[in-house]
Amino acid sequence: MTEKKGLSALEVLKNGPVIPVIVIRNPDHAVPLAQALLAGGIRVLEITLRSDAALESISRIRSEVPDALVGAGTVLSGQDLQAVAKAGGYFAISPGLTPNLLATARQESIPLIPGVASASELMLALEAGLTELKFFPAQAAGGVEMLKSFNSPFPQVTFCPTGGITLQNYKEYLSLKNVACVGGSWLVPADKIEQREWSAITRLAQEAVAGAAGTF
Ligand code: 3PG
Repeated sequence: MTEKKGLSALEVLKNGPVIPVIVIRNPDHAVPLAQALLAGGIRVLEITLRSDAALESISRIRSEVPDALVGAGTVLSGQDLQAVAKAGGYFAISPGLTPNLLATARQESIPLIPGVASASELMLALEAGLTELKFFPAQAAGGVEMLKSFNSPFPQVTFCPTGGITLQNYKEYLSLKNVACVGGSWLVPADKIEQREWSAITRLAQEAVAGAAGTF
């Protein structure tokens, strides 16, 4: 197995530029899904902790698809973060931040990329020493204009906007200087996973990666 422990949050985001936000209900789907995304040029995989299959899926991808950089999304608590690290995830992404989550992140070996949607939340993340952040829910919380506004007071912050990102708007986000990647579920439709349409998922990944070239 390729050893990649110790990736920083910035390294995770820079391996984007598009990160699929994945819900896996059957752990048998994990490895072929990861392989389909890799075949389409996507390496960073966010498996959300929204199903009982999530942690096992992370473990399987970590051991069977060594080129993937698999981590978790929807990490809501310190316990979630510890479970992700134990399962072999390279990173943890949360929709928001809490004092408990930030305190646990200081003790864990994998980076936490917490979500923020306001200047005050962003400043709490900075106080915890975190400068790579998810902007969530991106479209609903002000979209591209909000990120442009954040750049003047907070030029040290790099974002991964997620929430409402689509094939139609993702390039606009990627063109911003404080955006390293975008996250979205459009890359991994639930019906295509359920029906094991792996080549269709590879095509969605290829389309997104090709469209992103030159935008950032
Ligand atoms: C997330 O789960 O992090 C986002 O809600 C994904 O948003 P999307 O489904 O709008 O891409």
